[in-house]
Amino acid sequence: MKPTKPFSDIEHAPIDTQVVPLLDQPEPPTRPDDVSKRLLIRVLSTITLVAIFFVAAFVLIVINKHHPIDHTDTNTVLPESAVLEKSPLQYSRSDRLKWERTAFHFQPAKNFIYDPNGPLFHMGWYHLFYQYDPYGPVWGNMSWGHSVSKDMINWFELPVALTPTEWYDIEGVLSGSTTKLPNGEIFALYTGNTFDFAQLQCKAVPVNSSDPLLVEWVKYEGNPILYTPPGIGLKDYRDPSTVWTGPDGKHRMIMGTKRNTTGQILVYHTTDYTNYVMLDEPMHAVPGTDMWECVDFYPVSLTNDSAFDMAAYGPGLKHVIKESWEGHGSDWYSIGTYDATTDKWTPDNPELDVGIGLRCDYGRFFASKSLYDPLKKRRVTWGYVGESDNADQDLSRGWATLFNVARTVVLDRKTGTHLLHWPVEEIESLRSFGQGFKEVKLEPGSIVPLDIGSATQLDIVATFEVDQDALKATTEVNNGYDCTTSLGAAQRGSLGPFGIAVLADGTLTELTPVYFYIAKNTDGSMATHFCTDKLRSTLDYDGERVVYGSTVPVLDGEEFTFRLLVDHSILEGFAQGGRTVITSRVYPTKAIYEGAKVFLFNNATGTSVKASLKIWQMAPVQIQPYPL
Ligand SMILES: *[C@@H]1O[C@H](CO)[C@@H](O)[C@H](O)[C@H]1NC(C)=O
Ligand SMILES: *[C@@H]1O[C@H](CO)[C@@H](O)[C@H](O)[C@H]1NC(C)=O
Ligand SMILES: *[C@@H]1O[C@H](CO)[C@@H](O)[C@H](O)[C@H]1NC(C)=O
Ligand SMILES: *[C@@H]1O[C@H](CO)[C@@H](O)[C@H](O)[C@H]1NC(C)=O
Ligand SMILES: *[C@@H]1O[C@H](CO)[C@@H](O)[C@H](O)[C@H]1NC(C)=O
Repeated sequence: MKPTKPFSDIEHAPIDTQVVPLLDQPEPPTRPDDVSKRLLIRVLSTITLVAIFFVAAFVLIVINKHHPIDHTDTNTVLPESAVLEKSPLQYSRSDRLKWERTAFHFQPAKNFIYDPNGPLFHMGWYHLFYQYDPYGPVWGNMSWGHSVSKDMINWFELPVALTPTEWYDIEGVLSGSTTKLPNGEIFALYTGNTFDFAQLQCKAVPVNSSDPLLVEWVKYEGNPILYTPPGIGLKDYRDPSTVWTGPDGKHRMIMGTKRNTTGQILVYHTTDYTNYVMLDEPMHAVPGTDMWECVDFYPVSLTNDSAFDMAAYGPGLKHVIKESWEGHGSDWYSIGTYDATTDKWTPDNPELDVGIGLRCDYGRFFASKSLYDPLKKRRVTWGYVGESDNADQDLSRGWATLFNVARTVVLDRKTGTHLLHWPVEEIESLRSFGQGFKEVKLEPGSIVPLDIGSATQLDIVATFEVDQDALKATTEVNNGYDCTTSLGAAQRGSLGPFGIAVLADGTLTELTPVYFYIAKNTDGSMATHFCTDKLRSTLDYDGERVVYGSTVPVLDGEEFTFRLLVDHSILEGFAQGGRTVITSRVYPTKAIYEGAKVFLFNNATGTSVKASLKIWQMAPVQIQPYPL
């Protein structure tokens, strides 16, 4: 959380129809000249092929119409309606803005939200607090909004819990955490933004801890409880964590900061939960990673999918550090070992250290915060997913920013190097009208419409079988492939891209392809990339006309598989069980309402692919004021 509206430049970047660099890269990535030329030559030489491929696509469509592919349900046949249309539907601006509101993602009825704060399970309710502007769909008057849920998908909005009223938080009640002690006592720690935007740490408590809804909160009269330590910038000190008790019985709290450009975590000890003493040494620091916001710290099991609260310690556990890189809109994690005797943490692999290794999500997902859910013994995380179109659209819509569908987090015990982020199981209760497509054969350069009816609220699970002979035979070497510097799904290689284009209009002038791209390295090894191509998502303005993505480990014997949640203006893609995740926002002009279609495609030049899918329609959730 930040002192002033921080990402105005990023959230609403200037119009640019070129490929723009990913937000997490300080310098624009430069593509070596020879690569550009190779690309150009490849593009030119494929232009003639493209025409042939489209003819082939038509032929395939016609063939498929007469020989419907094997469906689990009987009512799905590739229809004429899905065949490339001549006259696309037209929608007014207000219809478009209305369509952009999501159906099964968390968002308050109106106004602006930002970081999730202080998630808490209390007396049967999941409590979610969040940075909230009660007065408008822009950053300002940052308060703690408050909603509760029984299932993490349907929500009741409660009155705002904390608002900027005191000198120490007058410019914003910024992010923080809640703690529930074994004796039932609950308190919140948050960062107060003062007149001069200095960041001070504050405490608040619910007026009545026996109230399951925790409606009313009161600030501690001794606030602020912590001032910025010497050597730390006044604006580089925020987002206090949940307090936990170590194996030695001492209570701990951590906060993110930076010294010069070294991002780090400060550790505090407390005996009374109000007075905190900082340790001399940070828990961990990584040079060059800048300010660590919203740090999260939690154990994961090496042997099973059970989660634990922060106090868990001992063999069989690893500890995860997550930080949000200020100004870059990206959340990073690293897996390592925590030593409670020294309050130090060491990464398993220094090359995958915090801020230089792995990201929670390679698209739009920031300032995440996790909750240990004692009911289902799982760790669940939310981040915010900002808008990327024009700021005036936010005003017209009356709302801005969403949260991702709550994700469980476990250690990927197969790789040992990754976490798996996966939508909570509750979301599956929204599924209906499941349709199956089995082993749809996709020749190189083909695109096949899937007639699934309405295509704006979907849960899609897809697996792709790549021709093993082609995989072995390919001689194309593509060492430097990177989704983010590629030309998206239009850049064809021997073994990719192949995947699904969603929110695509019938003429394919608007489409968002989500896909795998397999690249062979000089040493013969393969790297699989998982990407989302936003270059053609909308004919209108999009502040991030980018290709998102990263590599994803695909182990021997594993299929290429991803899950994709489509919910109006948000897409959440999870490759290989959640090893690599990409969230994006899209604002089509034609591929909305009944104009939105789904296509399977294989744009590889050297392999055919067999795709099997299951697609469900997703029911909307209920988000409403709690009837107090
Ligand atoms: C906070 O809200 C008040 C009342 O609506 C408004 O006058 C003021 O401009 C807002 N401040 C910011 C920083 O948005
Ligand atoms: C606290 O909340 C509980 C449950 O709603 C209620 O029964 C009790 O009367 C409340 N206590 C006070 C002091 O308001
Ligand atoms: C920060 O950088 C300055 C100038 O390079 C240096 O003098 C100072 O010691 C550094 N501070 C820390 C805490 O490393
Ligand atoms: C899960 O893993 C933890 C930590 O390794 C261990 O303490 C616990 O007993 C395991 N639970 C089951 C059901 O195996
Ligand atoms: C496949 O590549 C061609 C040529 O670059 C491009 O025109 C087409 O749009 C691509 N297909 C998809 C689904 O992106």
